[in-house]
Amino acid sequence: MPTVSLANAKQFSCPAECTLLDAARTQGLVLEHSCRTGRCGVCKAKVIHGQTQPIKFEEALNNEDMQAGYILTCCRAAIDDIELDIEDLGRLGSIKIQTLPCKIDSMMKLAPDVLQIFLRLPPNNNFEYLAGQYIDVIAKNGVRRSYSIANSIHENTSLQNKLELHIREVNEGIMSDYWFKEAKDNDLLRMEGPQGTFCFHEKPARNLIFLATGTGIAPIKSILEDLNNDQQYVDPKNIYIYWGGRTPSDIYWQPTFANLNINFQPILSRASEGWKGRQGYVQNAMLADNIDLTDSVVYACGSDKMIHTAKNLLISHGLNSINFFSDAFVSSN
Ligand code: FES
Repeated sequence: MPTVSLANAKQFSCPAECTLLDAARTQGLVLEHSCRTGRCGVCKAKVIHGQTQPIKFEEALNNEDMQAGYILTCCRAAIDDIELDIEDLGRLGSIKIQTLPCKIDSMMKLAPDVLQIFLRLPPNNNFEYLAGQYIDVIAKNGVRRSYSIANSIHENTSLQNKLELHIREVNEGIMSDYWFKEAKDNDLLRMEGPQGTFCFHEKPARNLIFLATGTGIAPIKSILEDLNNDQQYVDPKNIYIYWGGRTPSDIYWQPTFANLNINFQPILSRASEGWKGRQGYVQNAMLADNIDLTDSVVYACGSDKMIHTAKNLLISHGLNSINFFSDAFVSSN
């Protein structure tokens, strides 16, 4: 069976017909990823040596990437021993993915097309996650959709065992129809998670910049809740949030963290009557503020278009590419 070696000298074996991402995970190693379907590009890696074969279509790669030897680890298997230029994500590897029953604990509209759902997990579960990760919710008919967890782990509070989700209505979306038309308190569902590798990284940079569009604010809220409870990582950093929406009702949340000093910038992408705030795209608004990108870490969550544009733009303005972390929302009906 082929052996895969990573840049930090860790190794795992990869059975035929198993993606590199899945093979690593079954052996306790987590590689950076988000969608697992070839669409977001977060799992892009360079093959230094050896042969791989595609199992799924690598939608997020362009010709230049392929010619330069890049692959998507969620789409490819190894044919012979290979070496990749990426490292595993350490502590994420110790968190187990579980499938658990859950019930709707409460529901509330945050905006005309955004629902806040709290899911209640069984008592005495040992579900663990890092702020920023997501879960798959599985409905009775087997339909499964991914949602970021919007709260951090709350122990010994009324939120213990509860996962907060922000769910946007999708036109003719099968799962969306369930949430917006049928769901009620105590409905029984299943969830599988935690998934994804979007989480906080301890870095020496002075500026922490969060970019979000739409419900991409959810995992950022979770990360900020965590930081608010554990200030050692953020003192004395400058924290910025740039959150973009199309209408004023898209800006359905305000940061109120007693221990964090946050510069919050809501931005609408189009003109709206009565809106006195900023207008444009989050990445452009951030650049206009002249933050020193050579001393920054950026976390971006939301549309894949925003993420790709922001990444290229910010790197061209001095951000080190290893200081850009993202979670792209790819929509499904
Ligand atoms: S393209 Fe592989 S995780 Fe998204």
